[in-house]
This record gives sequence, C-alpha cells and structure tokens, in this order.
Amino acid sequence: MNEPSSKTDALTLLSSRASATKLADPAPPAELLDRVLAAALRAPDHGALRAFRVLVIEGAARKGFGELMAASAKRGNPALDEAGLEATRKKAERAPMILVVVCPPKAHPKVPEIEQVITAGCLAHTILLGLQAEGFGAMWRTGPAAYDPGVKEGLGLRAEDHIVGFVYVGTPAGEPPALPRPSTKDYVTRWSPR
Ligand SMILES: Cc1cc2nc3c(=O)[nH]c(=O)nc-3n(C[C@H](O)[C@H](O)[C@H](O)COP(=O)(O)O)c2cc1C
Repeated sequence: MNEPSSKTDALTLLSSRASATKLADPAPPAELLDRVLAAALRAPDHGALRAFRVLVIEGAARKGFGELMAASAKRGNPALDEAGLEATRKKAERAPMILVVVCPPKAHPKVPEIEQVITAGCLAHTILLGLQAEGFGAMWRTGPAAYDPGVKEGLGLRAEDHIVGFVYVGTPAGEPPALPRPSTKDYVTRWSPR
C-alpha cells in the first residue's frame, strides 16, 4: 500500500503540470534522463507492441535538426528568405535538448494504429511530468515539420512513422505563463442510460 502522502504528491504534480515556454541550460544529466525515459516506457501499451521510439537530440546535434526544420519550412514556403530560414534554424536552439517521440506503427489484427499513437502520446506526457518532478522543464511541440516526410527521412524514420512530438527540454527560465485551466464541471459528466 502506498503511504497517503505519496498519493498526494503524485496528484499535486499532475495538477501542477505546466509547459516551460522558456528553456535554458542545463539539460537533464544522462542518468536522470534515463530514469525519466524508463518511467515513460511504462506507458499503457495494448498488446505490448512497443511501437515507440525516442530520439535524443542534444548539444551540437541540434544544428542538424535546425537544418532539417529549415529545409522543411522552405518546402512548405519556397518564398521563405534567408532571414526566415535562419529564424527557423534557431528554433532548434530554444532548448538544450530535444526529444523526438515517435510511433513506428506495427500492423496488428487487434491493436489499431490510433492506439499505438496514443501510447506514444502517453510517453510524451510522462516525459513532461517526470522532468517537472525533477526540477527540469519541457514543452511538447509539433508543427508542420512533424508531418513532413523529409524531416522523418532526415531523422532516420520511415514515412509511415508518426512524430508524436518534439519535446523541448531544459531548465525553466522564469515562471510558466498563467493559463486558464479546465475545470471538471465543464468536461466531466456523469452518464446514465436513458
Ligand atoms: C500533440 C501536441 C502538439 C503541440 N504542438 C504545439 C506547438 O507546435 N506549438 C505550441 O505552441 N504548442 C503546442 N502544443 C501545446 C503545448 O505543448 C502546451 O500544452 C500548451 O501551450 C499549453 O500549455 P500547458 O502545457 O502549460 O498546459 C502541443 C501539444 C500537444 C499535445
């Protein structure tokens, strides 16, 4: 049995989760990152298909990621000028580390692809929570690059793989924005048969 206090701590963490919109050095050390990712791999997984991968892009490797983002932006908008390209490249420097959470779907008679994508989404959510619990920050982003076959190829993925998120990771720089938060009264209904 868990101690009551540990239950309270988990709910406090879950209810205080917030994206860190500004991230600075340092990134989480390798040993902590490994523990957070190990926790994320405990995501519910129908059929134990393990249709997930995480690519860690850190330090100098971000430059290559920035190039992929810029090439993608140029494909989407051939008129993009050098200043626009440079601004896109710089997005890779928004954080000291980027985790690409991927669902490489597997054909399965009972587990539809959407469920495999959901599992990878659970990974991403756990990564956010695990990092926040340890005093680091993260923000889940996608954008057109996440759906661009050219970006997937550059990352060594297949066209059919789903990039579920680019999770930007680092140390929070400042407080997160105070966002309105949804209330159960608006989104939770007690159903009963008619
Ligand atoms: C699948 C997914 C993709 C997202 N992509 C973006 C994005 O590209 N840009 C962005 O500003 N926020 C994106 N968000 C939302 C942010 O991660 C964040 O949840 C939102 O800004 C609200 O802040 P909060 O996490 O503190 O509630 C995405 C969220 C999800 C789940």
